[in-house]
Amino acid sequence: MTSDSESTNHSAVPVVRMRGITKRFGGVLALDNVDLDARAGEVLAIVGDNGAGKSTLIKILTGVYQPTSGSIELDGQRFEMSSHSDAIAAGIDAVYQNLAIADHLTPAENLFLGSELTRSVLGIKLLDNKRMKDTAVRTLKERLGVELKSMDVPTESLSGGQRQAVAIARAVRHENLRVLVMDEPTAALGPQETSRTLQLIKSLRDQGLTVIVISHSLDDVFEISDRIHVQRRGRCVGVVETQTTSNEDVLAMIVGSKTTAAA
Ligand SMILES: Nc1ncnc2c1ncn2[C@@H]1O[C@H](COP(=O)(O)OP(=O)(O)OP(=O)(O)O)[C@@H](O)[C@H]1O
Ligand SMILES: [Mg+2]
Repeated sequence: MTSDSESTNHSAVPVVRMRGITKRFGGVLALDNVDLDARAGEVLAIVGDNGAGKSTLIKILTGVYQPTSGSIELDGQRFEMSSHSDAIAAGIDAVYQNLAIADHLTPAENLFLGSELTRSVLGIKLLDNKRMKDTAVRTLKERLGVELKSMDVPTESLSGGQRQAVAIARAVRHENLRVLVMDEPTAALGPQETSRTLQLIKSLRDQGLTVIVISHSLDDVFEISDRIHVQRRGRCVGVVETQTTSNEDVLAMIVGSKTTAAA
């Protein structure tokens, strides 16, 4: 041990280390021997053309799909999952493109869907609606900086950005959450809500979360990410530091006119 501990800790063991991930769907090779590292407290962007394997890669990380081959380590320990709930238990959760929120339920009901809080009255279990609502208000405000005018409305009546905040709050309400994955979080949002969502992602990173974001918008990627993992036709064609790379370089990697970063 010759190097000082600070620099060792920074780069030593990534929170997430995926190695040699291959995924076949029948005859389709969706992922071909992909490595991915995500470090503590960074925003890692994943970019690539349609069908490049981005969503498949993060669905493997979140336990939705099993890889055909390859391994995943968390903090340097081999980690095997057989379902999405294994990933949640290990502190990895995702907000998907088609938001998995129930439109007719209130924000608080969405936050606790499937894991409702209860209280006991004369030995009978009742839903603890007040505690769920208070927790939802607090999570939205303290973690995400979002205050809704009313909590007693169906989530479908909220704006796109607010609905997304509800979906994110559902993930971050788990205290052990360490890795948040977002698949095209700004795809359905207008400019103002996009900008708010990008701020929110940065603030989650500043709270210490590792955030992995898939995006087709290189402008968004350059605004929020620390590093960029580029996928092309199922392969990783490079990982670059955002600060020392240009938009054009990343675009060239995406379309295949360049296979490694200039840096
Ligand atoms: N469940 C599935 N069954 C069969 N093929 C699939 C399945 N999921 C993905 N694929 C195929 O795997 C490849 C990678 O798809 P994936 O959805 O990971 O791409 P992507 O990079 O997320 O694309 P996009 O930017 O369009 O969302 C594609 O050829 C896709 O058709
Ligand atoms: Mg996708």
